[in-house]
Parts: sequence; C-alpha cells; structure tokens
Amino acid sequence: MLKIAHLSKHFPGTAAPQLDGLSLTVPAGQSVSIQGASGCGKSTLLSLIAGFELPDSGDITFNDTSLIFTHTRDADAFRRQQLGVVFQSFNLLDCLSVWDNIAFPARLKGNPDDTYQRDIMHQLDIAHLETAMIGSLSGGEQQRVAIARALAHRPALLLADEPTGNLDEATSERVTTALIDTCRHTGTTLMLVTHASEVADCTDVSYRLHNGQLQSNQSAVPAS
Ligand SMILES: Nc1ncnc2c1ncn2[C@@H]1O[C@H](COP(=O)(O)OP(=O)(O)O)[C@@H](O)[C@H]1O
Ligand SMILES: [Mg+2]
Repeated sequence: MLKIAHLSKHFPGTAAPQLDGLSLTVPAGQSVSIQGASGCGKSTLLSLIAGFELPDSGDITFNDTSLIFTHTRDADAFRRQQLGVVFQSFNLLDCLSVWDNIAFPARLKGNPDDTYQRDIMHQLDIAHLETAMIGSLSGGEQQRVAIARALAHRPALLLADEPTGNLDEATSERVTTALIDTCRHTGTTLMLVTHASEVADCTDVSYRLHNGQLQSNQSAVPAS
C-alpha cells in the first residue's frame, strides 16, 4: 500500500505551493491517474514518491517503509528493488540497444527474465526493435521502450509521467492497456500522470491535482 499523508512542497521562487497537505492512500495493485494543469505539481509529486526530492513536510510510506530517505543509498536500494519509473524525458541510455536498455534494471536487481521481457516488448509492439540503437527510434518508440524498461524488472510500484504523451491515439490506447493490464496482472501499484481523459478513465481511480490538493474525479475520496 502506498500512503501519502499531509505532503507539502513549495519550491522557492514559485508563487504557490506545488503540494499543500496532500493525502492519498493507494491499495496494493490499484491503478491511479493524476490529471491537472501544466505546472500544477504532478511531476513534483512523482519526484517526491521516487525520492528524487524531499518534501517540506508530510510522510510517504510504501508497505510501511518510509520513502522520505535521508541516505542516498537507501533511496537507490528502494528504486532498484521496488520501483519502476517512466520519466517524461524517457532517460534512455543512447549507448545501449533497445534490448539492453530494457534489461538494465532487471540486471541490476538480479532478476532478468528474457521470456517476460519479450512478452512485454510484444505487448508494446517494439519486439522488432530489439537490436536497434536508441538514437534511431522515433519519440513514440522511445516512449514505449521507456515503459517496457519500467515494467521488465517487475517493480512493486510504478510511476509513469505522461507515458503516452508522444503517441498517436491508437498507439496510446494500446500502450495504456498494456501498461494497466501488466500492472493488474502482476499486482503492481500504478500511479499515472496524464493529460488525456481517455487514459485516466482506464485506471481504477482518477484524481485531479489543483491548488496542491487532490480532487477525486470519481466517487472515491483521498484518505486523510
Ligand atoms: N527542482 C525544481 N526547482 C524549482 N522549481 C521547480 C522544480 N521542479 C518543479 N518546479 C516548479 O514547480 C512547479 C510545478 O512543476 P511540475 O511538478 O513539473 O508541474 P507539472 O508536472 O504538473 O506540469 C513549476 O512551477 C515548476 O517550475
Ligand atoms: Mg510534468
């Protein structure tokens, strides 16, 4: 279970807090989408959960482990063992092939599984790109490689920042379905930031970030 309690973050120099006492509980295996205006703090929320930034106040726990890491090595260990991240900017390694990019986190974690990786690549329609280098791919292909990389080491928690932002509608639908289905199948908790209502509608629960707080798009209410 991912539990966020009274989380606040205000970057100096910005007019209003990005997060202002935000609370949310996500049961294990649930998928959650976050929508909201550009610049409202969606990526900031994911950065705090991933341990890339520290909050001003508040708590984040995943399965009772605090994600407010005071030591870099603890943040690194959590990310290696439990976390998958699809960055808005992909962060792929240009010097490696598609296959090796996707296999990288699983090799670090010690659980590479060629069959499982091939399966995910098929679902995302990038199996034919196995030996290609990153520089030769389109933005949409790179995005799907980034998604495959985030899934292949079987993370317990997956954070995806606008993972279908560069894809046409048909591909976006296919990728969203693959992402959400894989997470459902593996019991992975998914937090997905998106601009697209059709993508948000596919997750179990859907929120909107506004004035540093989450508003429900459905009947479910963020836990306090
Ligand atoms: N590391 C940072 N330092 C200073 N300001 C930041 C930093 N990261 C984000 N911001 C600011 O916080 C606000 C929210 O950014 P972000 O979370 O990226 O928004 P979103 O993902 O919703 O578009 C923006 O005004 C942005 O400039
Ligand atoms: Mg963002």
